[in-house]
Amino acid sequence: MNTMIEAARSIASVHKDRPGGLLPALHGIQDALGHIPAAAVPAIAGEFNLSRAEVHGVITYYHHFRATPPARHVIHICRAEACQSMGADALVEHARRHLGCELHGHSKDGEFTLEAAYCLGLCASSPAIQVGDALHARVTPAVFDELVAETRCSA
Ligand code: FES
Repeated sequence: MNTMIEAARSIASVHKDRPGGLLPALHGIQDALGHIPAAAVPAIAGEFNLSRAEVHGVITYYHHFRATPPARHVIHICRAEACQSMGADALVEHARRHLGCELHGHSKDGEFTLEAAYCLGLCASSPAIQVGDALHARVTPAVFDELVAETRCSA
């Protein structure tokens, strides 16, 4: 855990003197560690001369940030306007049933974390999802199931 705290402190220190630097720092920490460990919050707060509560408040305000490690595979389903108009809510319901978890939760088998996204840049081909780093457009429930099966078998 000390390694994670030092990594978080190092990333925070890069951004600490920049206006609005906390958000890029948190993004950087999550990109590097997969989540923002609660144990790293005091170090982050120290770099920005903020209280722990202020940093915790920012982390919990944005759904994008995770306080716990994700599963091996992360699936983001876009819930922004264009995707909503093309059935994203129904796709989220399907994903919840198929994986057996809520948004921000882990699938029953522990292989997948299900997250919401708010525009993946594929609005003209919605509904869109992201599985790991790969974007997928015009995703139906059947396509979703295929992507989950392929991903489960891929690693
Ligand atoms: S609104 Fe879903 S990709 Fe833009």
